[in-house]
Amino acid sequence: SAVHLTVLDEVDSTNAEVLRRWPDAGSAMPVCLADCQTAGRGRRGHAWQSPKGENLYLSLGLTFHGGFALLDGLSLVLGVAVADTLEQLGATNVGLKWPNDIFIGERKLGGILVELQGELQEGIVQVIVGIGVNVHMTRAELVDQPWTSLAAAFPDRSWGRNQLAAALIQAVQACTSVFARQGFHAFRPAWQARDIHFGKSLRARQGQLEGVGAGIDDAGNYLLRTDDGLVPVRSGEISLRVV
Ligand code: BTN
Repeated sequence: SAVHLTVLDEVDSTNAEVLRRWPDAGSAMPVCLADCQTAGRGRRGHAWQSPKGENLYLSLGLTFHGGFALLDGLSLVLGVAVADTLEQLGATNVGLKWPNDIFIGERKLGGILVELQGELQEGIVQVIVGIGVNVHMTRAELVDQPWTSLAAAFPDRSWGRNQLAAALIQAVQACTSVFARQGFHAFRPAWQARDIHFGKSLRARQGQLEGVGAGIDDAGNYLLRTDDGLVPVRSGEISLRVV
């Protein structure tokens, strides 16, 4: 379906720009790409370092009919869409860290920020999806965890941001329309196949809960195998247990 595309040299956040442009998009999907962001946003209130000319900063505005309940699992579906796209373009060893961090091996390549815009009217929900992928990132000092870029991980290929953006827009449209019709269930195997935490010792709930990574349930919760059985973790950070 139609896309209303805005491409900018610089913006505060492509997610914020999609919200501003949404009224102009009519029935098309508002999409924004920028060369750099001055106030890039990450999950859980973190900043997303967004230097110029190096990476992909992409946001899309999605509309769902059916209310907030439908949105359980959307984050995970988006992770699958991004992972599928990267593999189609030649990346290997693509992993997902719950809910939707994108990894290559043990290093973070990108992330997804899902922001609920609220209910337009009864049963119609607007969601802004922001995708950040390190493409040519070279500035190691900017990031506070082990990270990689497509160019660093796969130096034999040339990575064009426009090609990547076009493929991601298509994949997000395709996956979210299947999701709107069928729910999260159809995506569970594809997500679990890439789970970087599976079988690892983990902690959750600020360290209160310890267990072994056991994949996700049908609602998209992460499961920890504990002494008391499988425990679903609904929110908060899951991290590797340091032993
Ligand atoms: C994370 O914390 O892992 C999510 C990072 C999401 C970053 C992207 S870059 C494009 C879009 N605009 C933003 O301000 N954030 C998202």
